[in-house]
Amino acid sequence: MIKKIGVLTSGGDAPGMNAAVRAVVRTALSKGMDVYGVRRGYVGLINGDIFQMDERSVSDIIHTGGTVLYTARCPEFRTQEGVAKAKAKCDELGIEGLVVIGGDGSFRGAADLSAMGVLCIGIPGTIDNDISCTDYTIGFDTAMNTAMELVDKLRDTSQSHDRISVVEVMGRGAGHIAVNTGIACGATDIITKEVPYDLDSIANTMLAKKAKGKQNFVVIVAESIGHSQEIATVLQEKTGIEARATILGHVQRGGSPTVRDRVEATRMGYYAVELLEQGVGNRVVGIKDNKLVDYDIQEALAMTKSYDEKLHHIAEQIAY
Ligand code: ADP
Ligand code: F6P
Repeated sequence: MIKKIGVLTSGGDAPGMNAAVRAVVRTALSKGMDVYGVRRGYVGLINGDIFQMDERSVSDIIHTGGTVLYTARCPEFRTQEGVAKAKAKCDELGIEGLVVIGGDGSFRGAADLSAMGVLCIGIPGTIDNDISCTDYTIGFDTAMNTAMELVDKLRDTSQSHDRISVVEVMGRGAGHIAVNTGIACGATDIITKEVPYDLDSIANTMLAKKAKGKQNFVVIVAESIGHSQEIATVLQEKTGIEARATILGHVQRGGSPTVRDRVEATRMGYYAVELLEQGVGNRVVGIKDNKLVDYDIQEALAMTKSYDEKLHHIAEQIAY
């Protein structure tokens, strides 16, 4: 029976991470375990920035963005010495299991620590929804809703000025935020690296739509494409329509989590502790077809995730 576990958040923060931490802490306490919070991800694990948590440690956080445990990137944890230091810290405190809330990089670290004998369970937390073993990652819904609200505001001014608004959204290498935000905002064009695009044809289509009375255009560009200012300049040159570029940036990572993020974070946090209770480690939790699942970390990292091309094409087809 596992008696003491730790919990940390690692990599980029995401709204809903606090709900996951809360679920982990409260579930573990309800099962009679001691729970330790680790500050700033693997940095805190190596340096011993670790504190015991109780029911009240996670009060009033379910609705907050960011992470009360802070997060960090930790180059030292990529080395054997770094992982060994973390293992020694766990041994010193009697921590037998660890819940790691983060992305693929954090899970690689968790696999290394699992190999040294600490039972690690990964929970997918990133706004990008780019983790292959799960349909959903914590933070995705809130980030998309934030992007949608901001694009709605841009549409107001774009409409008043008869402009093209080119908006770059986050997502790292993946276009999941872009395609969903594009659909939700009625974008005229969505540019992601998953689907080939051509600025000449986008410009020509804009001109054809303008000839039929359309006066303003919203173009969503995924971070993986970048160059939004350049795209705006090219579209302005090719169409003669004034264009402005906006990069939404880190504002997409903040804010109070949506219902979906709070609920999924809670489900996954609870499930992670159930796995540890069974003495299981080296697993990543996920949600597939709305069911909780778990995979061996290496197996999870080797999976690939598809992009919803159908959604992309629907958006293109109905953008008049
Ligand atoms: P994310 O977890 O969101 O993918 P990162 O890729 O920045 O974010 O990874 C977070 C942390 O996980 C890194 O700072 C590092 O401490 C650890 N990590 C990343 N990749 C590895 C790896 N290959 N081996 C061990 N630890 C890693
Ligand atoms: O993974 C989340 C994310 O916000 C990506 O969308 C983005 O590419 C990256 O993190 C930004 O990282 P940083 O916070 O280091 O600028």
